[in-house]
Amino acid sequence: MNEPVLNIKDLRIHFQLPQGLLKAVDGVSLEIRRGQIMGLVGESGGGKSMVGLSILRLVPEGGRIASGEILFEGKNLLALPDHEVRSIRGSEISMILQDPLTSLNPVFRIRSQMIDVLRLHKGYGKKEAELIAIELLHNIGIPDPEKNFQKYPHQLSGGMRQRVVIAIAFSCNPKLIIADEPTTALDVTIQAQILRLLKNLSKEYQTSVLFITHDLGIVANLCDRVAVIYAGEIVETASTRDLFTSPRHPYTKALFRSIPRHDRKQEQLFSIEGMMGTPIDWPDRCKFYPRCTEKLDACKDATSLAPVARSGDHRVRCLRCQ
Ligand SMILES: Nc1ncnc2c1ncn2[C@@H]1O[C@H](COP(=O)(O)OP(=O)(O)OP(=O)(O)O)[C@@H](O)[C@H]1O
Ligand SMILES: [Mg+2]
Repeated sequence: MNEPVLNIKDLRIHFQLPQGLLKAVDGVSLEIRRGQIMGLVGESGGGKSMVGLSILRLVPEGGRIASGEILFEGKNLLALPDHEVRSIRGSEISMILQDPLTSLNPVFRIRSQMIDVLRLHKGYGKKEAELIAIELLHNIGIPDPEKNFQKYPHQLSGGMRQRVVIAIAFSCNPKLIIADEPTTALDVTIQAQILRLLKNLSKEYQTSVLFITHDLGIVANLCDRVAVIYAGEIVETASTRDLFTSPRHPYTKALFRSIPRHDRKQEQLFSIEGMMGTPIDWPDRCKFYPRCTEKLDACKDATSLAPVARSGDHRVRCLRCQ
């Protein structure tokens, strides 16, 4: 049996704000298997980044991991001493963020940044690290790697910079990569190239990926499985094929209707009624209830993530769908 590389269990992240308790992540459970690309998709403010950041214990100040476990190859990352988490960061688990300039240091050449990572985490000598770095740059499609290697981050285009970040992320052959909207800032053709690169590398190295996005179109092309998150809760999880052929949760269905399609007229473009809002002191019931067009009176009670009839790996948090 393919054991999960990452197993998040009932994760809760709270911010105590003057206005009340903000439950940014409210009982998220998620499993990612070896070599699997898992999409985490939902609207802005849904808690996607908080889930990603919590894996490496990088929740911003003011946020508290109130409960839960994050098992990475069986070890609870939330219970490890800081120095162990630091050594896992960048070697066994890497992150790719939206803006490559936050990952790259502006005052050092690409060369020294890549070599440093390889020397620190893999213990290579300088010459050996240099050869590996050049080969990596070549593999990810950086033209003339020996020359581009000598450049500073600002001397490369946005797409090239993101390629370099991906090369660094893969350079230590991590088991898991967390990619938080890595292509949002890039134009569409470059975005497609970067996604193809990420997918190929993940399959080649059997690296698991948690891919965070608000874009279902990307999920369709990239991910093996998907979890849909709304106001800090996973509302539906399924294989990409099942989610796309039979979305069940009213929120997932609404997300699909809001994707622009070439065969629909502009005025038919659907937007979900109302706003998600910020989950401060919300009652303990279905969070989508106020915006749901299919709600029942009984939906006021909290619901759990239950399997869609007969299918254990397609799960929905909705009374209507069970
Ligand atoms: N530093 C912070 N202090 C207080 N609340 C925060 C902080 N960072 C995030 N939050 C809140 O936590 C919730 C989840 O935020 P998060 O950034 O994880 O959403 P997201 O799904 O990644 O959204 P986006 O698509 O905009 O990146 C939101 O309600 C947000 O306002
Ligand atoms: Mg985010």
